[in-house]
Amino acid sequence: MITLEKFEAGDMQRLIDWVPDVDFLLQWSGPKYVFPLDEKQLSATLELTRPDNPPHFMFKAILAGATIGHIEVMGVNYVEKSAVLARVLIGPKQHRGQGWGKMMIRQALHFVFDDLELEELDLGVFAFNKSAIQCYKQFGFKIYKTIPNRED
Ligand SMILES: CC(C)(COP(=O)(O)OP(=O)(O)OC[C@H]1O[C@@H](n2cnc3c(N)ncnc32)[C@H](O)[C@@H]1OP(=O)(O)O)[C@@H](O)C(=O)NCCC(=O)NCCS
Repeated sequence: MITLEKFEAGDMQRLIDWVPDVDFLLQWSGPKYVFPLDEKQLSATLELTRPDNPPHFMFKAILAGATIGHIEVMGVNYVEKSAVLARVLIGPKQHRGQGWGKMMIRQALHFVFDDLELEELDLGVFAFNKSAIQCYKQFGFKIYKTIPNRED
């Protein structure tokens, strides 16, 4: 059983250690972070989670007492009731492909739709990331826009 807990400063180094290279950083988090990921960049994101009714939530995913994943809800718009699911990661490779990612996403969807009572959730994923796309489709996400690479 996966549970989500608030990601805090003490969780940063573990997350940094899960990101081995620039390609993986881009695949996982999109273009905002610069490799190597570091505490300064993560602190800036963490600050967004601090206000009341924050626009951003960061979670770690716990399995049997061990942290194995990370997931974020960003761009929360409490008026339009929308947000973006982001930075979905099962950290240790040996834990991938065993259903934990799906369980982590299910918990995040519960948070978004039941706790925050939002109505619309978006996400971005690279077309090459077939396993992630397959995973998101199972939750009902549909491809509605494809953005070409700049060099295409
Ligand atoms: C994407 C990710 C979070 C999925 O978590 P996971 O624990 O590996 O996935 P699960 O075992 O829960 O599998 C969920 C679904 O994904 C798909 N999937 C998982 N591994 C797959 C693979 N090797 N090939 C094809 N589909 C795969 C399947 O549809 C699977 O559902 P099913 O088992 O019912 O068929 C994880 O693989 C990961 O951290 N990847 C690296 C970071 C990343 O790319 N994040 C996404 C950024 S948008």
